[in-house]
Amino acid sequence: MSDPATITETLTKDHRDCDRLLSAVSLQGRKTDWPRVVRETEAFRAAMERHFRFEEEVLFPPLEQVAPLAAGPTEMMRQHHGQIRVLLDDLAAAAAAAEAADYVGISETLHFLIQQHNAKEEGILYPLADRALAGQGADLAARLAEMD
Ligand SMILES: [Fe+2]
Ligand SMILES: [Fe+2]
Repeated sequence: MSDPATITETLTKDHRDCDRLLSAVSLQGRKTDWPRVVRETEAFRAAMERHFRFEEEVLFPPLEQVAPLAAGPTEMMRQHHGQIRVLLDDLAAAAAAAEAADYVGISETLHFLIQQHNAKEEGILYPLADRALAGQGADLAARLAEMD
């Protein structure tokens, strides 16, 4: 049996899965099928929301308990989540209204913000969590698969 995956491995993979869903909703290179864009946008938003809820509800609270110095970075990550959620709502609204220019602009902004956010988590916060939570980290990471 292989070792249980760390927080860094599990959540970095989930970042990549979310990135793929965002790429899938690009409007480039095909005639825009808006009902499909609406569905794919919802799939992307649901995946992002699941990831954010895991971090905010499952990962950050025990991390803040064992590593009080992590509270500054986790608070900044929560603020990013709030900004990204507003843009996810805007993206869904642009899809529902079939507003192509808005949709492309919002998805580019999202792509940029998500890359910046993920780089901070993957480079700093997740390695810190794996060190601080030690054996508990793999148990927490396994709970991502149980979230709906
Ligand atoms: Fe995050
Ligand atoms: Fe994340």
